Amino acid sequence: MKTTAFLSALVALAAVGSAAPAPVHNVFPVGATCSNPLQRKEWRQLTSSEKTSFYNAVKCLHNPITKPAQLGHIAPGVRTRFEDFIAEHQRQTATVHYVAHFFAWHRLFLSRFEQELRQCGYNAALPYWDYTIDTANLLGSPVLADFGGDGAFDPNADRAFGAMGGGCITSGPFSQAGGFRNISLGENTNTGYAPHCLTRNVKNLVGQVWLNPGREAEAVAKPTWEEFAVTLEGGMIWDTLGMHSGGHFGVSGTVGDMYTSPADPLFYLHHANLDRIWAKWQKQSPANLFAVGGSIKPRIQDLNPPNVPDIQMTSWFPINLGVLAGIEGYTTVGRLLDTKGTVPAGHLVTGSLCYEYV
Ligand SMILES: *[C@@H]1O[C@H](CO)[C@@H](O)[C@H](O)[C@H]1NC(C)=O
Repeated sequence: MKTTAFLSALVALAAVGSAAPAPVHNVFPVGATCSNPLQRKEWRQLTSSEKTSFYNAVKCLHNPITKPAQLGHIAPGVRTRFEDFIAEHQRQTATVHYVAHFFAWHRLFLSRFEQELRQCGYNAALPYWDYTIDTANLLGSPVLADFGGDGAFDPNADRAFGAMGGGCITSGPFSQAGGFRNISLGENTNTGYAPHCLTRNVKNLVGQVWLNPGREAEAVAKPTWEEFAVTLEGGMIWDTLGMHSGGHFGVSGTVGDMYTSPADPLFYLHHANLDRIWAKWQKQSPANLFAVGGSIKPRIQDLNPPNVPDIQMTSWFPINLGVLAGIEGYTTVGRLLDTKGTVPAGHLVTGSLCYEYV
């Protein structure tokens, strides 16, 4: 009783603004309730000073002096905290895609990144990119424009689906001109040091077919968790891309790299949008909120995953971000189902999260 009151007081205190960077709200002490969830907004709803603060926070995380890497032991190429996130995603790629825990794993990954941004002076919540607004012409998206637009024309890049770029982005805060450092960590499965710029090769046709409002509505209307999850995550071939793969492939270049896609900051806005759609599906009923199931063994074996047993995901399934995750290094699917901290019956500690989509 006393402990709970103390924790509530702490949370209440944390809600009061101060000159220091706002305290982290998306995780909260075990036993506390989520009373002041971070409000995740569409990118276009951010004020211009919030946008600038977001750019600066990403740059702060991608600075080897102020935010040196901590994952050099698993990926020798990393130099910055920003790259730690790329490396952790790269390390787990084969076991966290095309599986039942795909959405829960990425939910924790985003929440950890959101906390890191907030330790770099960003006071708002992780934004999302609702590209269903832009699907007629992805290339003309103002969100894409803020993030530097398409890559420069590269004669060697693929021209499929209307692509016209393929090279380094040349404008905006994440270009060389904008003061963004090259990514030190290699691409694909290369964990070594191989500096390179951010590239994009936007494919308008992919946006039109796979990122339109009908695709979101189709996923949200799925009656079961597994149908919803498979529809939204999608697969690797054109007929089954889904919004998840469609977003990666539609922008292509760096964010189209299965393993190291978090090197493009747009990754976080794309995945926040998918996470928003999951939360929207969950909101439809109490049963949806805590729905689990589906195999933890990848349904597509193209990434040569280790031999994972074909067992069903329960709310007790562990989600692990290793060194990257701090106090939430190990949590469970059950503690990630509600973005506002409630847990399914039987779970004795509160959830890991405290945010909502607006
Ligand atoms: C960044 O990498 C690109 C190649 O991807 C290269 O052309 C450019 O010179 C590099 N920039 C710096 C500052 O090293």
